[in-house]
Amino acid sequence: MSVTVRVPAKVNVQLAVGAARADGFHDLANVFLAVGLYDEVTVAPAGELRVTCEGPDADQVPLDRTNLAARAALALAERRGIEAAVHIHIAKDIPVAGGMAGGSADGAGALLACDALWKTGASRAELLSICAELGSDVPFSLVGGAALGTGRGERLTALEVGGSFHWVFAMAGRGLSTPAVFREFDRLAQGRDIPEPVASQPLLDALAKGDPDALAAAVSNDLQPAAISLFPELADTLAAGRTAGALAALVSGSGPTTAFLARDPESAAKVAEALRSSGTCATVRTAAGPAPGATVVKG
Ligand code: C5P
Repeated sequence: MSVTVRVPAKVNVQLAVGAARADGFHDLANVFLAVGLYDEVTVAPAGELRVTCEGPDADQVPLDRTNLAARAALALAERRGIEAAVHIHIAKDIPVAGGMAGGSADGAGALLACDALWKTGASRAELLSICAELGSDVPFSLVGGAALGTGRGERLTALEVGGSFHWVFAMAGRGLSTPAVFREFDRLAQGRDIPEPVASQPLLDALAKGDPDALAAAVSNDLQPAAISLFPELADTLAAGRTAGALAALVSGSGPTTAFLARDPESAAKVAEALRSSGTCATVRTAAGPAPGATVVKG
């Protein structure tokens, strides 16, 4: 008996970042869009908690209890007073440490899979609250689609999306640490007044209409200067995508994956090809969004 859950990656079409809070986190206006790049998390009963991983970046995934999938299983088991005696296997297709919520996806996936395997009958609200304890982006991995995240990004309001958006993602040869990017944001922000983060109305309207040109004009990421400061080559990747005809080019979340919005699948394929031959990135993928959140696909 095993249960498999499929979980999407995300891109932040807006990431507005406020000043550092007393707890070190930052208030955000974080507009998430789930895209069709997926990890699959399978859980099966075992003698003890164990994590394995397969995929191109598998060697970079921690297999101990720091893995968000392991932490999710432990959190649910603890609430039910049971042992987290499961083998968690992650088939990883989302880039690791890429700013696309790959670790968060595995946390949400393992939680949903363990809930089904153990028949805990947890409500959606309880699952979301465990997700929020695991990390700021984990609740969104559970719900998918498009949503505005406020607070540290974990308080979600679902957003309407009027069509499919076509994206190209360029992965860098190495990852970036999210805390390091936020620290660099703080360093660059020193001596400046940081406004309260608010969602952009033109951006929400563009999503609701499914209008790629309007969305391209409205996307923004306040972490982008910090990510580029730590990883200057990202500027070359962004320029290569713009030159190739992308409607918009931005760093995804804390990076270093860069995201390019295209008008349609044909144009996305052209941008992807140009990025592949640009020599400015390691791998290139295309994916459309919105995509559904964590979904049981077997079991
Ligand atoms: O919530 P999560 O564990 O994913 O956050 C990782 C790190 O990113 C935090 O430890 C913090 O340094 C930074 N962060 C932040 N403000 C947020 C979300 C994350 O400063 N809203």
